[in-house]
Amino acid sequence: MTKHVSALLLALSASVIQAQDSPCCEALRSSGLNVYLPDDAAYQDRTDSYFSISAQLHPWCFVQPIETKEVASVVDTLREHPSCVDTKFAVRSGGHAPWAGANNIDDGVTVDLGMMNATVLDLPRNVAGVQPGSRWGRVYGTLDPLNYTVAGGRAISVGVGGFLTGGGNSFFSARYGFGTDTVKNFEVVLATGSEVINANSTENTDLFQVLKGGSGSNYGIVTRYDMLAIEGSTLWGGTALYNKSEGQKLIDAHVAWTDNVQNYPPGSAVLIFNYERSLGDIAVLTFYHDTEGREAPPAFDEFLAIPQTSNTLRFASHQNMSGDLDIPFGFRNIWHTTTIRNDPRIYNKFVEIHAQLVDEWKAEVSDPEFTAAMNFQAIPTIFTEHSVANGGNVLGLDRVDENVVMIHFLMSVKTVELEVKATEKIKKYGAEMDAFAASVDGLVEWKHLNYAGGDQDPLASYGEENNKKMRAASAKYDPTGFFQNKTPTGFKLSKSGTV
Ligand SMILES: Cc1cc2nc3c(=O)[nH]c(=O)nc-3n(C[C@H](O)[C@H](O)[C@H](O)COP(=O)(O)OP(=O)(O)OC[C@H]3O[C@@H](n4cnc5c(N)ncnc54)[C@H](O)[C@@H]3O)c2cc1C
Ligand SMILES: *[C@@H]1O[C@H](CO)[C@@H](O)[C@H](O)[C@H]1NC(C)=O
Ligand SMILES: *[C@@H]1O[C@H](CO)[C@@H](O)[C@H](O)[C@H]1NC(C)=O
Ligand SMILES: *[C@@H]1O[C@H](CO)[C@@H](O)[C@H](O)[C@H]1NC(C)=O
Ligand SMILES: *[C@@H]1O[C@H](CO)[C@@H](O)[C@H](O)[C@H]1NC(C)=O
Ligand SMILES: *[C@@H]1O[C@H](CO)[C@@H](O)[C@H](O)[C@H]1NC(C)=O
Repeated sequence: MTKHVSALLLALSASVIQAQDSPCCEALRSSGLNVYLPDDAAYQDRTDSYFSISAQLHPWCFVQPIETKEVASVVDTLREHPSCVDTKFAVRSGGHAPWAGANNIDDGVTVDLGMMNATVLDLPRNVAGVQPGSRWGRVYGTLDPLNYTVAGGRAISVGVGGFLTGGGNSFFSARYGFGTDTVKNFEVVLATGSEVINANSTENTDLFQVLKGGSGSNYGIVTRYDMLAIEGSTLWGGTALYNKSEGQKLIDAHVAWTDNVQNYPPGSAVLIFNYERSLGDIAVLTFYHDTEGREAPPAFDEFLAIPQTSNTLRFASHQNMSGDLDIPFGFRNIWHTTTIRNDPRIYNKFVEIHAQLVDEWKAEVSDPEFTAAMNFQAIPTIFTEHSVANGGNVLGLDRVDENVVMIHFLMSVKTVELEVKATEKIKKYGAEMDAFAASVDGLVEWKHLNYAGGDQDPLASYGEENNKKMRAASAKYDPTGFFQNKTPTGFKLSKSGTV
């Protein structure tokens, strides 16, 4: 058994014995905070609000601060109260990261930012102040009627806090860079609790840079993101579905698209080879969007000339568009990511691997409910030009001087046993994908944190120089290592480089 799998089984058995009352939870409650113990109805609601069952662990309690001051009070209590000295904690915003240990904890406390879900348009400052515990559908729903929007996630249920500290690819990336590059100011509660600071292009600029991709809970808890307010909330676009027999033409169109993004930044296209449960077969699903609301502009011609099975192309609000792309809750989700040069030979190999995985799964397992997808997204150099113009992030893509493609390779299944098996397969095929890409000199080091599996090390993939910056910021803003030692969850600097 792999280390990951035994950790999973251990986590399951640990969850059975954790139900004893926790003095630290009592201490948090005595500080006047909302605390939910396992017997409270709200505890079950918060558990159900995690996207992936794999991430639905069993903390001693959830604590839900309602404002920045309360986040500070949570941090103070966890740091100082004698009952909390040995207590570990997790930080959770939308709860969409799918793996066990990303955003929740079995033996400890989960700080749940779900009550901090407001979005306020501040036109004089040209920003929307977005609280971390919101989901993008709610954010767009607030801004759409005002004819404004922000560069957030493409599916309504995705959370704000994790998306924006992990990079964040949006429909708007070719216009403004990653979602995180549109953040003008982060409000952050540091380990000292009582210290709430802003990180932006003039204050705490080192923290500003590392929060853009370096995963928030390495440095503090972000309590507000002031994001560039983008005028115009009507998009054109939607999904299109194709017979897999059109796969080669769609790959060629995506290769051409990736090298043409700089000539039409309002556009966005995503290519997915997807096992469709309803067909019992693989089909090709694409997302096409025009963020300036032009109908079928010429940049999409090559895609649109390929015969489709069906599509949802239309004009709609940003919120409505992101309803198309949501993935149902209630599964165990296994994710893996890699990045490649824009070479059709590699796309084809990955599509073959996906087909082989689907065939094997159907032959070996009786599981009518699984999904498996191989998803291709352009990461052209124009994204990085915007990042640099906004003061730079910590992703390290400035080292890449060509248009590349990021892959999101994923399965979803229903049971623990199937999760163990799917995890082994995704790992095996993920390694095969990287080996093939490397063999044709097409493997790119950078990995997108938002799509990484728990066994991957995206922070290391940002390169040595960026790792130094992240470590320096962690040492400066969290000198006692509170966030490295007390919250083991998510992608941690202290674990990076050792995986
Ligand atoms: C259906 C679906 C669609 C998606 N679409 C996109 C997409 O279009 N583009 C894209 O880039 N990604 C996308 N993702 C991936 C998504 O960005 C990540 O899953 C991301 O982590 C979600 O953010 P969250 O707030 O829900 O994260 P959570 O799971 O709550 O948190 C993730 C990590 O961030 C840390 N964190 C969260 N909030 C804070 C905070 N306020 N301060 C400090 N640390 C914090 C947590 O501790 C945790 O380690 C998608 C995911 C799904 C399931
Ligand atoms: C948003 O936060 C408010 C409190 O600030 C809470 O009452 C409400 O339930 C939250 N909404 C969601 C969808 O979690
Ligand atoms: C940057 O932080 C400082 C200090 O808190 C604040 O006064 C200023 O308004 C912030 N800038 C932006 C763009 O938010
Ligand atoms: C919304 O904004 C877009 C882009 O700036 C503009 O073209 C459009 O006229 C605006 N619509 C309304 C109703 O104001
Ligand atoms: C896809 O096209 C092939 C012929 O090229 C056809 O046999 C098959 O039925 C089609 N599949 C679907 C799901 O329409
Ligand atoms: C999008 O709009 C359509 C048509 O009005 C509606 O049926 C659908 O429910 C909407 N979806 C979302 C997520 O808003």
